[in-house]
Amino acid sequence: MTQRMTITRPDDWHLHLRDGAMLKAVLPETARDFARAIIMPNLVPPVVTAVDAAAYRERILAALPDGSDFKPLMTLYLTDDTDPADVAAAHADGLITSVKLYPAGATTNSSSGVTNIDKVMPVLEKMAAIGCPMNVHGEVTTPEVDIFDREAVFIDTVLDPLRRRLPELKVISEHITTKNGVDYVASAGDNLAATITTHHLIINRNHMLVGGIKPHYYCLPVAKREEHRLALRKAATSGDKSFFLGTDSAPHIDPNKESSCGCAGVFSATNTMACLAHVFEEEGALDKLEGFASLHGPAYYGLAPNEAKIELVKSAIPVDYPAHIETGEGPVTVFNPGYDLHWRVV
Ligand code: DOR
Ligand code: ZN
Repeated sequence: MTQRMTITRPDDWHLHLRDGAMLKAVLPETARDFARAIIMPNLVPPVVTAVDAAAYRERILAALPDGSDFKPLMTLYLTDDTDPADVAAAHADGLITSVKLYPAGATTNSSSGVTNIDKVMPVLEKMAAIGCPMNVHGEVTTPEVDIFDREAVFIDTVLDPLRRRLPELKVISEHITTKNGVDYVASAGDNLAATITTHHLIINRNHMLVGGIKPHYYCLPVAKREEHRLALRKAATSGDKSFFLGTDSAPHIDPNKESSCGCAGVFSATNTMACLAHVFEEEGALDKLEGFASLHGPAYYGLAPNEAKIELVKSAIPVDYPAHIETGEGPVTVFNPGYDLHWRVV
């Protein structure tokens, strides 16, 4: 039996598009289903100034397929030296939507990130005053802290103290992976929300490590134990407006993933809506998919939802999603949920 469902066209509130040939190859995969996306600034070199963001935005628009009306929502990469006035001007111009805080060393291309919150307080205070939100990669980088505990420790030692110090700052805790993150966000007030990735709703750390290491499931924050995945699924499918989709689709060419020191990142742009429909159907919550993918994000960012709709169709025969996409730099493996997908966007 064919099942059909129409929802408001979704947005991706956390996306890596890269640059050059990679940008050209991955952008259509997102623009096909999504109307807008928050574009991560962790290029090499990073997008740190308004001038950088304007130039990157132009490169994205130039790489769009003909006729696409996809809108990149630009971010700035916060460094210890970011100028509050530059952020304020870029936000007032509508050039940037938010600013991304990477703790230095937390993830891919984060070496120019923030070394100490105190150093960026003037910028954060300015952002709070002008209503510019902060996206945060919520992991500590302290070597003594176990990688599986880094998110929980960040909440206790960095995020909660910061939010008490500056409650007016609007924060998005990016790609939460733990029950601790879910509980913290659910109990916080209006100025905290969280994105959840597609893959963290589907894989736990066993999927990555049991029966041989699966480099294409390695990302940061790393997938946690099953109880955390279940907490994320519950949050995403609950209808709570504090949780919305940020795929964190992060392409790396296969040789850089299948390596003795593999890069972190899962590329899920190609089949994200199919994976989500599968998850929400499993949870008996297909009626909550539109909120998660299309409504809660714009509401939190103070934007209107998209006017356009998409139709999702479920067929008896599995959909043949590509195992990888070709880029000018090499193949990029598409996220494999480990089961057949029957949903597609038409
Ligand atoms: O897995 C990840 N990949 N996590 C991040 O935070 C960055 C991203 C990337 O840029 O590859
Ligand atoms: Zn990311």
